[in-house]
Amino acid sequence: MYSNLRCWIAFGLCLVCRTSVGLEFPEFAALPDRAELPDPLVMLDGTRITTANDWNEKRRPELKALFQHYMYGFLPPKPQAMVLEEVLFTDDQFLGGKATMSECRLAFKGPDLTHRMHVLVVVPNQRTKPAPVFLAMNFCGNHAMVNHPKIHVPEGWVYKSCGGQVNERATEAGRGTQAHDWNVDLIIEHGYAFACFRSADLDPDTPEFSDGIEPAFYAPGQTSPRPDDAGTIATWAWGFHRGVDLLVSQYSQSIDPSRIIAVGHSRNGKTALLAAAMDERIALAIPHQAGCGGTAPSRIPVDSKKMETVARINTHFPHWFCDNFTLFNEHPEKLPFDQHCLAALCAPRPVLFSNAVEDQWANPDGQFEMLKAADPVYRLLKVDGLGAKERPALQEPLYSRLGYFLRKGNHSMTREDWGVFLDFADIQLGKP
Ligand code: GCU
Repeated sequence: MYSNLRCWIAFGLCLVCRTSVGLEFPEFAALPDRAELPDPLVMLDGTRITTANDWNEKRRPELKALFQHYMYGFLPPKPQAMVLEEVLFTDDQFLGGKATMSECRLAFKGPDLTHRMHVLVVVPNQRTKPAPVFLAMNFCGNHAMVNHPKIHVPEGWVYKSCGGQVNERATEAGRGTQAHDWNVDLIIEHGYAFACFRSADLDPDTPEFSDGIEPAFYAPGQTSPRPDDAGTIATWAWGFHRGVDLLVSQYSQSIDPSRIIAVGHSRNGKTALLAAAMDERIALAIPHQAGCGGTAPSRIPVDSKKMETVARINTHFPHWFCDNFTLFNEHPEKLPFDQHCLAALCAPRPVLFSNAVEDQWANPDGQFEMLKAADPVYRLLKVDGLGAKERPALQEPLYSRLGYFLRKGNHSMTREDWGVFLDFADIQLGKP
């Protein structure tokens, strides 16, 4: 992408590194210190973007590549094929006949790809046209999302915090243990469909790099990740994209492919935003309480104790991002982007940053600043962006296209949050 000549002009010295997909970007040492937020509408070589066309053709692809090279790692390519191996069951009497629930087992074709992904899909029965859908990545398994005896109980690793787990393995006792977070009844009542998959189907949330799908995409002879190969969050985002593939190819009679909403909580929210930034088939993103590495700025004081820093996240979760990101642990000001650029990559599509006031670790104030800094891209694309100059007060959702909500309470996903998600989706995409 960058000829050496352009690199000389932009950085005064030619320290480039070739990304794993053959692009050339500056070495960490050649990146300038920038305490201020990089302008999303200025290219790496200093060129200002003034037209929607240049945003779409030049800056957007550049930002997508920059985020992958320096932070998340490059998402794996599409699998050679994705096969719907089995529909495990269909229950058209779910929620007293209000919804039809089914679960699919997907297999990916490609060298060494042996992983399977289970996707649960719940569609409202009362509808006159295909329903918009919330596509979510969950922590503990589809069986934890609603209490239903037929949902597959996952075999592999699960978090120790998951209800009903024994020795990091799911059991029958986990059924419905996260139903209070997901409120599928409310979603169906509002006319939306709901689909979900478990993150560990793609990659267990452990520092071990060989237990996910990633090695299936290694180059011949490669035994460990290169500095910009996919970290776990990028791999999970790939999972979102496969979920979209499924909905679009198999459910278009009942689900509207133009109204797919990506939603996730916390680390899964970071993933939902990345997935939306990278794939325009996602119509709206709700990265709930996503914080550092998702919706909150990386440019915060490196000694912050209140908010999560780049160094902290890379130390505690060394597998979430690519190895290049650790270079920025003490120098987030060298990043050629910040998280406002990830929100901007979703433009002109709506995005809601939702938060809780006791969850200062996720930096709710900083998240509002990210929306403010993403706003010029929305304006360039001639749509409304952020509808307020100051952060909205507690309990007052801002339903502009760049939306924001700060509620009372702590780090969790509640029925109240879902009320706001549904209102936001109604306003931005139209009622079902
Ligand atoms: C930790 C981590 C956060 C993350 C959260 C979660 O608190 O520091 O970055 O969002 O876990 O996923 O629950």
